[in-house]
Amino acid sequence: MSCPGATRGRRLWRGVIGAALLVACALLLAGCEPNPQTTLSPQSDVGWDIQNLFAFIFWAAMVVLAGVEGALIFAVLRFRRRPGQPAGPPIGRHGSTPLEITWTLLPVVVLAVVAVPTVLTIFKTAEAAPGNAVQIQVTAHQWWWEFRYPKLHIVTFNEMHLPVGQTANLSLVSADVIHSFWIPQLDGKRDVFPNHVNNLWFTPSITGIFPGQCAEFCGPSHAYMQMKVFVQSKADFANWVRDQQAAAARPTSAEARRGAIVFGQASCPSCHTIAGTAAAGTIGPNLTHVGSQVGLAIDNEMLNKPADLAHWIRNSPSIKPGSYMPPQNLSQRDLAAVDAYLESLK
Ligand code: CUA
Repeated sequence: MSCPGATRGRRLWRGVIGAALLVACALLLAGCEPNPQTTLSPQSDVGWDIQNLFAFIFWAAMVVLAGVEGALIFAVLRFRRRPGQPAGPPIGRHGSTPLEITWTLLPVVVLAVVAVPTVLTIFKTAEAAPGNAVQIQVTAHQWWWEFRYPKLHIVTFNEMHLPVGQTANLSLVSADVIHSFWIPQLDGKRDVFPNHVNNLWFTPSITGIFPGQCAEFCGPSHAYMQMKVFVQSKADFANWVRDQQAAAARPTSAEARRGAIVFGQASCPSCHTIAGTAAAGTIGPNLTHVGSQVGLAIDNEMLNKPADLAHWIRNSPSIKPGSYMPPQNLSQRDLAAVDAYLESLK
């Protein structure tokens, strides 16, 4: 016959071990930091508005949780049935009017308290951007982002440059299906529709590189529909603007010059623009300064290295499933030449 004290002890130990495992799991997950795509470390005014709203609702929910669970635990302990005790009388014949009024009104109060700051934040983020904002037209494509600076006459893809401390005013539209624009540390998600322009603005508060991601399933390469935002000092941004506004660099090496000829004779110019050359296609990314971009199609590490760029040109769907850029049947020598040409377009 087992001793009741020993059984209770075992249960206690099991509880302690379970709690310790829970804490270990929480610490392990917390160890995933630093996570550049976290929404919990905002670096813009709008990011902080959303963060503050989140924190307020989180703590409001904690108060509700403590109240509800506290009342539940109190009721379970205080009014539990004891051995030999008969069942207690029901509360009223048709329920309790004061209790029902209480548990109807309390959620109304909680929802009202949560709704007011939520609606205020939504209205605030929907206001017009300040007049001195940098204007950027963002077009979402399956599966890349186009950034057009209409006043600065600059077009980039997958990389957006912004000056720190100045509002960026984005108008978002899609060239095909519905996407969602999201730079977790700088803004909330904004749907990107075809034939309908949505607006989004925010003011980045520190310099740095902020990764972003399409946040609406949009096809086989949705997960690869990434972007990077470079928030720069005013001087660095001005330098970047000057470099981007300059004409495409003339190829200097013999191989790059040959690459320019191969590029012109292949199907490339029907989809891509290189300002100052005959290439004026608008289906694919503008390649005028492609050599100065860090990330081309997926991420920095994979591409913008000679072998990877060649791999991309030869068979882009093998890197980005579903990519609309058709595989290019070029010889190794021609591939290397086109690669050298594109790399030279600083
Ligand atoms: Cu675009 Cu998902």
